[in-house]
Amino acid sequence: MLKGKNILLGITGGIAAYKCAGLARLLVKQGCDVKVVMTPLARQFVTPLSMATVTRHPILVDFFNPENGEWNSHVSLGLWADAYLIAPATANSLGKMANGIADNLLLTSYLSARCPVFVAPAMDLDMYAHKATQRNLDILRADGVNIIEPESGFLASGLEGKGRMAEPEAIVAALDAYFAEQQDLAGKTVMITAGPTYEKIDPVRFIGNYSSGKMGFALAEECARRGASVKLVVGPVSLKTSTPNIERIDVESAQEMHDAAVALSDIADIEILCAAVADYRVAQQADHKIKREKTGAMTLELVPNPDIAAELGRRKRDGQLMIGFALETNDEQQNAAGKCERKNLDFIVLNSLRDQNAGFRYDTNKVTILDRNGDVTPYDLKSKALVAKDIIDYALKKLNK
Ligand code: PMT
Repeated sequence: MLKGKNILLGITGGIAAYKCAGLARLLVKQGCDVKVVMTPLARQFVTPLSMATVTRHPILVDFFNPENGEWNSHVSLGLWADAYLIAPATANSLGKMANGIADNLLLTSYLSARCPVFVAPAMDLDMYAHKATQRNLDILRADGVNIIEPESGFLASGLEGKGRMAEPEAIVAALDAYFAEQQDLAGKTVMITAGPTYEKIDPVRFIGNYSSGKMGFALAEECARRGASVKLVVGPVSLKTSTPNIERIDVESAQEMHDAAVALSDIADIEILCAAVADYRVAQQADHKIKREKTGAMTLELVPNPDIAAELGRRKRDGQLMIGFALETNDEQQNAAGKCERKNLDFIVLNSLRDQNAGFRYDTNKVTILDRNGDVTPYDLKSKALVAKDIIDYALKKLNK
């Protein structure tokens, strides 16, 4: 799976850096193009000459070449790479990454990388076990960084315990597994609804909700990353999509979202209903801006919108997987389980507005998956990208059963 991949290898200043020439060589043997960025201290542990010889690229340490002023662009490095692997990753660099500190080229490249990032921590056992290090690793995990766990054994300090950088073969295997998993939706079409719907009242007003589209877009990105052809039916949001295998269908109202989703239902292998759809629209849209009356209340008559999930549930084919969402404020599990049953979903992803930093607009979410078979799987608060990964992992387990 690694053939043809561009790997940016970041080397920080730890004794395990001496293994990096072997690591880079293994990656090159797998068919990767490897470029190396080092912290200034890493040069004490492995020479730039060794790394340049193995990778056939000049080694980057400084922001610019002091001899000719040539700029080493961390942005283009981040865009070039299919994966950024930081090995060894010292406690110091992990701490800086977790806190957005960018005082060398390796760290600025981390902040500008759009590709998946892997770190292989290496340090003394007490440093590794320290609460501060574990806290930083938790932050990085929540930010979507893949941690390649260190091994237990003899350490450079003479002590024995967990903290040895994973062996180069294990690191390469972790990257390989990641790219293999990436294709586990190849050949599948996934239809996702995302964002809010707007129901026009008059030319300047609408009924809407706070959905930003972030959760639905994270799902679309995750499915596309794993090889699916994605049809993203999205209400009015300000988010952009640039991934080639995501086809975006912009809609405004629940009726438009319904029509687009139903039209795609015949080709979708998986349907994910993440949109926050207005259940009602005004019975009569006004052609002109409604003027304020001098006195008295105003009444809008509302009529029900189509329930997209329920309609797709009625049309569900054998082998098609349907995933719904439930946004609840009370009696969460009971309400979500009821929706799962009524809409003929395979499972429903519950998020509650009672959980902090979860639901509308946040970059994070905290979900519980309720399966039609009665299984209940709670997850921790994490980035919406990681929540999307959990949901798709769960969906694939069901599909492959
Ligand atoms: O977009 P973000 O800011 O990231 O926020 C994400 C989210 C909170 C919107 C998302 O995680 C979420 O919970 N989406 C579903 C919200 C919702 O409207 O849930 P519901 O309980 O009202 O609806 C249940 C299910 O039926 C949902 O799958 C919904 O998409 C679907 N539905 C509802 C009404 C309707 N007319 N048609 C539908 O398809």
